[in-house]
Amino acid sequence: MFPIHRPRRLRKNETIRRMVRETSLSPDSFIYPLFVTFGKHTRKEIPSMPGCFQESADEIVKHAKEIYSLGIPAVILFGIPEHKDEIGSGAYDDHGVVQEAIRAVKDAVPELILITDVCMCEYTNHGHCGIIKDGDVDNDQTLELLAKEAVSHAQAGADMVAPSDMMDGRVEAIRIALDEEGFPDMPIMSYAAKYASAFYGPFRDAAESIPQFGDRRSYQMDPANRREALKEVALDIEEGADIVMVKPALAYLDVISDVKDAFDVPVAAYNVSGEYSLVKAAGKLGWIDEQRVIMEILTSIKRAGADLILTYFAKEAVKLLNK
Ligand code: PBG
Repeated sequence: MFPIHRPRRLRKNETIRRMVRETSLSPDSFIYPLFVTFGKHTRKEIPSMPGCFQESADEIVKHAKEIYSLGIPAVILFGIPEHKDEIGSGAYDDHGVVQEAIRAVKDAVPELILITDVCMCEYTNHGHCGIIKDGDVDNDQTLELLAKEAVSHAQAGADMVAPSDMMDGRVEAIRIALDEEGFPDMPIMSYAAKYASAFYGPFRDAAESIPQFGDRRSYQMDPANRREALKEVALDIEEGADIVMVKPALAYLDVISDVKDAFDVPVAAYNVSGEYSLVKAAGKLGWIDEQRVIMEILTSIKRAGADLILTYFAKEAVKLLNK
């Protein structure tokens, strides 16, 4: 009771605040997303995501060197193929954009951990995350293609696969296929609790993956559901997920916290494109202190329980941490 308890005693100056700080950020927990496009010497800035680019494999190699030299241990690769079709064949093409980028980066920066996003939406002409039957994505037919895609990434030299499609049973299908093809040690980071979110808007511009009809609500989770996230995560762990992800991050800190409390596997959170663009836009307008907001957001995601954070802010955050 006052005046015995004065919490301000431990806030007196930066040194003492540093001593009692409960959460700290480190480059070790960052995963930086990269968009791989076809061609050569291509580097196109994404209008709704200033500072982020669609890059051809040769540019990705240069970028990967910079990222690793900053101390960021991992990237996640998304592909933008030259041609899209009904069955997303670019996703499991051994000479697809992501497969070629993996080979080039592995050659140049072997220590950098290469995670691949395993999904169909960047490769289908209808923009949905799988095979369409009767106006909706057919779950079980899609599983076969996702498994093929994961194996193809593994064969190219990926270090980890990250299925983001939200089909039921996909972690198991991918685990079985990887094991059969000789990749029993390949970890799976599943997008376990992935919500049908409007925060993905800028990413769909970046990946040119806007659904051509309908939306993703028949497979991604309803933003109103909290307990269901624990069910999705439990299923993915049972099926063999090594790391589980909650996505988006900022509007779902309660879900991150629940997942962290309930399970013993590493938890990742995806600080998605819309969360990035909001900060960039307000920063540009001079309405917020952009650098402080970035660090506050990342700290909050970590405080909620994320061990790993996929974030477009990774490079800026490392520079701010080193300041
Ligand atoms: C699907 C995928 C999406 C994102 C990552 N993987 C988009 C979606 O489900 O529509 C979103 C990432 C972001 O918004 O930053 N392959």
